Amino acid sequence: MQHGHTPQPPSPDTDPRSTLPPDPVPVLLVGVHGYGRVYLRSLLTLAHSGAIDLAGLCDPRPPGPDDDLEGHGFLPCFSDLDEALRHTGARITVVATPIHTHLPLALTALRHGSHLMLEKPATPSLEQFDRLTEALSGSGLVCQVGFQSLGSAAIGRARRLVAEGAVGELRGIGTAGTWKRTSAYYERAPWAGRRRMDGADVVDGALTNPFAHAVATSLALAGEGHRAPQRTEVELYRAHPIEGDDTSSLRLHTRSGTPVTVAVTLCASGDPAPELAVHGDAGRIELSYTEDRLTLRREGQDPHTEALPRADLMGNLVAHLRDEAPLLCPLEATRGFAHVVEAVRTAPPPRPIGTEYQEVWRESGHTHRTVHGITGLIRRSAESLALFSELGAPWARSNASAI
Ligand SMILES: NC(=O)c1ccc[n+]([C@@H]2O[C@H](COP(=O)([O-])OP(=O)(O)OC[C@H]3O[C@@H](n4cnc5c(N)ncnc54)[C@H](O)[C@@H]3O)[C@@H](O)[C@H]2O)c1
Repeated sequence: MQHGHTPQPPSPDTDPRSTLPPDPVPVLLVGVHGYGRVYLRSLLTLAHSGAIDLAGLCDPRPPGPDDDLEGHGFLPCFSDLDEALRHTGARITVVATPIHTHLPLALTALRHGSHLMLEKPATPSLEQFDRLTEALSGSGLVCQVGFQSLGSAAIGRARRLVAEGAVGELRGIGTAGTWKRTSAYYERAPWAGRRRMDGADVVDGALTNPFAHAVATSLALAGEGHRAPQRTEVELYRAHPIEGDDTSSLRLHTRSGTPVTVAVTLCASGDPAPELAVHGDAGRIELSYTEDRLTLRREGQDPHTEALPRADLMGNLVAHLRDEAPLLCPLEATRGFAHVVEAVRTAPPPRPIGTEYQEVWRESGHTHRTVHGITGLIRRSAESLALFSELGAPWARSNASAI
């Protein structure tokens, strides 16, 4: 196997910043076929700029002979992470693998003295989150979690507007996400749509995976990303024949007292940008977290829309290790989200939404499903901070779970 580094794992007792090669930092990408492709592209850009050295890949399913790796051509690929870290001496390990593999892979990387860029959700349970926190503690190593929306300047801007009283007294934050995922989404990987698999928690549901950013960004807007909510209410439903949820609503009673709701579905008719609404008694702020677009609406005034910049989390991690920037999404900043994952994990199984409430059709070999009236229902949830069952959806009854 070809590689360009002599492995020199740092002692975990030393400050990793002083042990990092000054330039470029050797990086290993774990998981190359799914979302890992997005990382591969941004890692190649960082490699071209000289910030990192993309030292190798790790995946039990290596890239095929026709895979040009986003134009790179060749990269050493290992099937075992221990071996990959030994050979490459990577100082940053990017983990973009199925949720239930995150903790074991992350612990292996930390044992080799490697920092982590870890995809969301960091872990499928609170117990695993605590184990990862403990492994990081005192190691001198850092873990950035892949909530790319938390790299947006829109969050700080919205929080400043609220602090300045731009929308008056804060009433709550309501978030709406309506996307469409066909059966192809659930057929792409064995773990897709699973709550557990092979005896392990997976917790792949609408709130914990595709709309994880909606939850994490709502918590960040409330200033509550780093701590457990006082109370969490969650309602899980499914229209697809899956084990996990695809249509769900969540209400968080935060410690600061700001109620936060997130209502989402993967059974809508299109893929509009999710909207977060910060409700005040004198106006509202709307944030589209996939577009970094913020609109301030105040009574008696024209709405004002701004497009804000977003920092790349991988670039931020490299800058942090050079002491040039604070980490934008460290693991501890995602503890509130970990509590939501735990609430979903421990909630009763999702309640099926009967086919009488759905439109179902086959197209291009895949099953499409939309739930009648779901977009309007989700908008009403975000407006009124209410759960589906409180809004009288006929399929939404007695499935609330609170911890
Ligand atoms: N931040 C985002 O916007 C975003 C978007 C999509 C997915 N994700 C996250 O990325 C992660 C991967 O999701 P996906 O949909 O790409 O999954 P996937 O199953 O489509 O792809 C996972 C990849 O990991 C590889 N893999 C599996 N087990 C492995 C192991 N033990 N060691 C090394 N490689 C292994 C698979 O072969 C595959 O290449 C998940 O955590 C998911 O939540 C994040």
